Amino acid sequence: MAILKIARMGHPVLRQVAAPVRDPTTPEIQRLLQDMLETLLDADGAGLAAPQVHVPLRIALLQVPSERLEREEEEGTGAVPLTAMINPVVEPQTDETEFNWEACLSVPGMVGSVPRFTHIRYRYQTAEGTQIEREARGFHARVVQHECDHLDGILYPMRMEDMSQFGFVHEMQGSRRGQPEEEEHGDEA
Ligand code: NI
Repeated sequence: MAILKIARMGHPVLRQVAAPVRDPTTPEIQRLLQDMLETLLDADGAGLAAPQVHVPLRIALLQVPSERLEREEEEGTGAVPLTAMINPVVEPQTDETEFNWEACLSVPGMVGSVPRFTHIRYRYQTAEGTQIEREARGFHARVVQHECDHLDGILYPMRMEDMSQFGFVHEMQGSRRGQPEEEEHGDEA
């Protein structure tokens, strides 16, 4: 196991469309997943995509802590335990979008208000090669869309519509609309 170096905005690997994984069960992919897991836990993030660790493959990890969901009072969605998604595909279930704050391990120290679909279905393969399909709303749906964007070379600032809502976490604390004063740490993806 190893903690991997995280690419930051500007690195070409983050702008690339990542390649599908042919066989999720190979030892190489299992090792990559273990290293990504260790890297995500070390960084205390909500998600991590393989291109962020300089590997242009369609793999992403995500975890949605229950306290985050309770804070947003999202009924009907539970906490999402640490999940490895291989070859994930997102299908929006609505035209409705909402803005909320996002941060990214590849854009350290910054936050921005990003529109995302409020309700999606997504499917992916597990590390065992099993096909899974899930439905997601709110923060859960947001993290999945953020991670899948990484696989298409898109970083969250590229989704923003109002650049006045983009800045350094420590400068913006207290001035951000609709955001409690606490944290940011732990929400980077
Ligand atoms: Ni990110």
